[in-house]
Amino acid sequence: MRQRFAFFVFILLFSVCFFLMMYYGEKTFFVKKTAKSEAKKQAYHFVLIPEETDNEYWRIIEKGAREAAEKYNVYLEYLGPKRANMGEHVRILDKEIAGKVDGIMTQGISEDHFTPLINKAMDRGISVVTVDADAPYSRREVYVGTDNYAAGFLAGQALLEDTEGKQVVGIVTGRFDASHQRLRVQGFRDAVEKEKRIEIAGIKESGISKTGAVQATYDLLKEHPDITAFYGTSALDGLGIARVISTMRPNSDPYIITFDTLPENMDLLRDGKIDAIVVQHPYEMGYRAVEMLVELKKGNHPERLQYTQSHILRQRDLDQFLKENKGLFGDEDDPD
Ligand code: BGC
Repeated sequence: MRQRFAFFVFILLFSVCFFLMMYYGEKTFFVKKTAKSEAKKQAYHFVLIPEETDNEYWRIIEKGAREAAEKYNVYLEYLGPKRANMGEHVRILDKEIAGKVDGIMTQGISEDHFTPLINKAMDRGISVVTVDADAPYSRREVYVGTDNYAAGFLAGQALLEDTEGKQVVGIVTGRFDASHQRLRVQGFRDAVEKEKRIEIAGIKESGISKTGAVQATYDLLKEHPDITAFYGTSALDGLGIARVISTMRPNSDPYIITFDTLPENMDLLRDGKIDAIVVQHPYEMGYRAVEMLVELKKGNHPERLQYTQSHILRQRDLDQFLKENKGLFGDEDDPD
C-alpha cells in the first residue's frame, strides 16, 4: 500500500514538473526545441548575426530583415554578441553553422576570421549572404551593403567641398580590425590626399561605442590640439565627437562628418553640431539580404555584389530626406 502511494506521489510530482517545464519552455532547455519546431512551420530558417545586438544601426537592419522574413514566411533569428567582440562573433557564427540553419547573414568583418567559417557553412549546404561588410575572398554567394571604399571617398570629397583653407583632421574609426572601417578610412585618405591644405593628424579607435568615441576624440584633441575637422567612420562616432566638442571646446566649431542617419545624429545635424552625414541604408540591407537568401534557396543565382546606395546628407537637405525616408531610419517618432 505504502509503495503504491509513493509511486502515485512520484508520478504526480513528475507530471507537475513536466507540465511546468513545457509551460515555461521558453526559459528551459525546451527553447531550442521550440525554435526548431517554429522553424519547421515556416519555409526557411535564417539567422542574422549582427556586430552587436543592441546597436541601433543593427536594429534597423533587423527591422528590414524581419519585415522581409514575414513576407517570405521565413523563421528569422537575430543572434550576436551584446558588445562588439570578434571571438564571440565568430563563436556564434560557428554554432549556427553546426545548428544547420538554411541561411546565414553576417558581416565579413575580417577575412582571416570569417572566410574559413563562411566557406565551412557553404560546404554544409548553408547559404551565406554577407551584409554591411563583405568578405570578397570567401565563397559567400551575395554581398548586400555599402561600397565602403566609395562611401569613405565621398566623405573626403564632402570635406573638400565644405571647408576652405588649412584643415587638420582627426579620424575616429569603429575598429582597426574591421575591413569595412579600414576601407572607409582608405577612401577618405585617397580623396583628400592630393590637397595640400588637408592634413590627417591622427586616427583612434572607438570600439563602435559612444563612450569609446568620446575617449578617442579626447585623446586626439590632447595629442593634436590644432585639429579643425573630424571624420567618424561608424554610427556612434559622431555622437562621441560632438559630445567632447560641446563640453571641452564649446566655443570652437570644427567641421564634423560622420556615418549613419541614426535619430541622434540627425538631431545633431539639425542643430548644426554635425556638418554632414554619410548615409547608408541599413533597412534595405536587412530586407534585401533575406530576399537574396530566399532566391538562393530556390536555386536562383542573384547578382553577387549588391551595393546599397550611400550619399552625403547636409542640414539643408534634412527635411526632404526625412520626408522621403519616413520610418526607415528608426525615426518613426520624429515630427515631420
Ligand atoms: C557600420 C556597422 C557598425 C555600426 C556601429 C556602421 O556605420 O556600418 O558595421 O556596426 O556602424 O555602430
